[in-house]
Formats: sequence, C-alpha cells, structure tokens
Amino acid sequence: MGHRTVPFHDFREFLDALRSHGELIDVDRPVALELEVAKALRKSASTAGPAVVFTDNGTGFPLVGGVYNSRAKALIAFGCDEDAAYDKIITGLGNRIPPTYVTEAPVHQNVVLGDDVDLAMLPVPRYSPDDGGPYITSGFVVSHDPETGIPDIGHYRCEIVDRKTMSMMAAPGHRFAKNMAKAQRLGHTTFRGALVVGVDPMIAYACPIQTTDDTDDWEVVGGLRGEGVELVKCVTNDVAVPAHAEVVVEFEVDFTETVSEGPLGEYTGYYTPASAKPVVRPTAITHRDGAYFQALLTGRPTTENHILKLLPFEASFTHQMRQQFPTIERVSIPPSGGVFFRVVIAMRPRYAGEARSAILAAMGSNMRPKTVIVVDPDVDVHNSEEVEWALAFRTQPARDVIIVGDLPGGALDPTADESLPPDQRTGSALGIDATYPYGTVVKTVGDVCGPALAEHGKEFVEVADVPGWRDYDFPELDGK
Ligand SMILES: Cc1cc2nc3c(=O)[nH]c(=O)nc-3n(C[C@H](O)[C@H](O)[C@H](O)COP(=O)(O)O)c2cc1C
Repeated sequence: MGHRTVPFHDFREFLDALRSHGELIDVDRPVALELEVAKALRKSASTAGPAVVFTDNGTGFPLVGGVYNSRAKALIAFGCDEDAAYDKIITGLGNRIPPTYVTEAPVHQNVVLGDDVDLAMLPVPRYSPDDGGPYITSGFVVSHDPETGIPDIGHYRCEIVDRKTMSMMAAPGHRFAKNMAKAQRLGHTTFRGALVVGVDPMIAYACPIQTTDDTDDWEVVGGLRGEGVELVKCVTNDVAVPAHAEVVVEFEVDFTETVSEGPLGEYTGYYTPASAKPVVRPTAITHRDGAYFQALLTGRPTTENHILKLLPFEASFTHQMRQQFPTIERVSIPPSGGVFFRVVIAMRPRYAGEARSAILAAMGSNMRPKTVIVVDPDVDVHNSEEVEWALAFRTQPARDVIIVGDLPGGALDPTADESLPPDQRTGSALGIDATYPYGTVVKTVGDVCGPALAEHGKEFVEVADVPGWRDYDFPELDGK
C-alpha cells in the first residue's frame, strides 16, 4: 500500500476511503438499536468484514459501526503498513504540532440547546443483553486539567440513562478521572467537558497514545496527522473540539448527584457490574448537516475496541520504555489480554538484571499489565507460539519469575475486589524473564541466535545448510 501523506480531512473522507476499498456497506432495511446493530457488528468483527452504515435506525442520523474492526481498516486509516504506522506514531510524538483555532465550524451547523437537548435523538445501540442501557462507546472525551488548563483526549464509555442524563466510567489512572478528582479536591461541584463522535481516524488513534499528564494531547494529534488539527470552542463551555467532528455532546458532570452506571459487556469479555457514578448532564448537542453517528463494538477480544488501542499502545509504550531501555526492539500488547493485561517485550539486555528492570518498569507504567514477559529479539513477540517456546525452553521458574503485589488494579479486571471503590482496588503482576541469562555466549546463525553453552542444553537447531541448496529450492513448497 502506498503511503498516505495527507491526513484525512474528516470522518466522511475516511468512510469514502473504506467504501472505495470494499470495506463499507449500507444496510437500508430497518435495524433495531437494541442488540440488532451489535449482532451485525459482531458478525462483521468475527470475519474482519466490512463496516456497516445502518441508514434506517429510527433516528435522523445514519449510524456507522465497525470502522476500526480489522487490521486492514487500521492500515487504510494510517495509509501505510504496520511498521510505518509504528514509525508515524513515534515520529509524531517527537514532532508535535499545535492545533489551530477557528470560530466557524461544520460541527456547529446545528446547535441544540436548553430544553431541546434530547439524547434520544441519537442512534445509541445496546451491545450486550445485560448492559444497563444504551452506550456511546465510540466517543472520546475532551477535558481540561482544572488547574493548568492542559487538554486531554481519551475514549470513555458513556451510558444513556434517560433523555437528559448520562453517566461515564473513567478508570482512576486515566486523565479524565484525574481531572475530575482534581476538580473535586479544589472544591468544584461540577466539571465540564465534551464527548466527540466521528472524526478523522488519526484523532481517534491518537486518543490511546500514552503520554505524560502534562501533555497537550492536541499537539500529539497534530504530530500524528503531520498538520495541526482545526479546533473550535464549544458553545456551552471552554473546551475546544475538532471543527470537522460529526457530533459533539457538550456536558457537565455533577459531583453532587449519582446514578447507577453499568453493567457493560467490556473488552475483557466480562460484564463490569453497575455502580454509583456522578450524573453527567448534556448542555448542548451540536452536529454537522447530515451527520453520521458512530457505533463501536466492545466485548470479548477481538473487537474494534482492541484494534483501536493496539497500534497506539504498542508504539507509545515502546517509545516510553526505550528511553530507559534502548535495546527494546519490539513490544506486543495483544488483544487476548484486552490490549492492557499482557505485555511481551523483545530486548537484548546490556547487563545482568536489565530484563528484570524492564519488567518492573512495565509493571509501573500506566498500562498496568498483569503479565510481563521479556524475550530475546530472535523471538517474534506477536507469535504466541514462539513466546510459549521461549517460556518453555529459556526459563527456570524459580529463577526467572517475579510476582509483585499491591499494584494499582488493572482497569476493569474481573478478578478485582469489586466491593471496593475503583481507586482502592489493587492487584498483583507476574513478570517472566525469558531471555538467556546475561553473559550467555550467543551463537548467531543468520538473524537467529542460540546459546552455545553446555549449561543451557544442546546447541540451537539450525536450518540445514546444504551447500548450493538454493539450486534446488523446492518450488513445490512455495506459498504452502
Ligand atoms: C474504544 C475505547 C473505549 C475506552 N473506554 C474507556 C472507559 O470507558 N474508561 C476508561 O477509563 N478508559 C477507557 N478506554 C481506555 C482509555 O481511553 C485509554 O487508556 C486512554 O489512553 C486513557 O487516557 P489517558 O492516556 O489520557 O490517561 C477506552 C479506550 C478505547 C479505545
């Protein structure tokens, strides 16, 4: 695939690109928001099938779902192959570009205010039978640090409680939660933000990128897009949102009142139980003419939730870790662990114990993985069979395993003590150093390495090296 040098202007341009690649279809018959949309998206996800526009969903907005549900669509979004997408994220983090501000914006073509605000106008599906209600799973929240004003963007699930009430779930380690907690500490009773749906995919892929809490995330968006994003100030608060977004719900969190939020069938493959959370009230709904609303499937891996997190988490985590461990070559944060709970790192330790240091640093990161495995660079971190091979034959459990207790609990961990409030939950993490002990004499055969030391067993098995073997290269086996 040729590299795309110009970012998508908006969500619609991305939808056009998906359509032209045969990755977007229309369903024009009536489709129920109650589980039927989810059924279609699940079917599409299971076959890496096309995104779907549900035109007749009972509202005035076409609903499109599944736009992030496969590797192929991710590569259309990035306009390049996977390696180049990694580089794009890492280069973007080092070359941040500030946003520009406009006063007139397509997202303000329609502004719904006051008594007219009605969440039932939006096509919001219910995804799993025991969900507490319909959920906006595709939106990202823009909020500002109440002291410094630094903007943060990140995806947060949002339950529609009734026509004028929503509730959101923000894990304590994520910035929206930190911003709200700070506002409460400062004595504020409310906190304002905006929920944004339908954007240039590079904005959506920028949301999960791991950065420090003092980062203006819009600059990271600019770095990833290669040009600054156009923002416009909200109508009812000071938060700025992408001018070309499809739909924005401006809101106010009211800390003085709570409502039951949940359950939701989550990315772990389990429901998270309902609990009391602050009430969130929409203060305005703004949208473009002919706006698309977006559905996004979450549930047992792999869904578009996982694919959306995969590249940004892996690339930005690699970038963070390489600052201390420059010999890290690849990182895998696979969907089987929800793209949070399991991290596999390939590195060449430079001194004894460095792999264990990397394990502890990974456990201390905001990814809060539950299992961290470090392997030598000859093991493909994305191939679980190779990783299991390294675990089987390069480790001695009594020597190579670390267990650390009482770490912050992983977001939505179904094994956590759910009777405790989220900020009081802790968990343990397992680290496995599956690299050869430092100092092992490593024999290199092509780009494969293996130990030549007797204490690590027999020599690594090599591919038969028959002199002149290329002359009889078994063409019968090509492509098999
Ligand atoms: C589709 C999607 C939905 C998500 N939903 C939530 C959520 O409901 N609550 C939450 O705390 N994190 C959620 N996350 C994860 C955070 O958005 C992500 O970890 C982000 O990096 C956190 O923001 P921060 O890095 O600014 O702290 C979601 C991620 C994706 C891609």
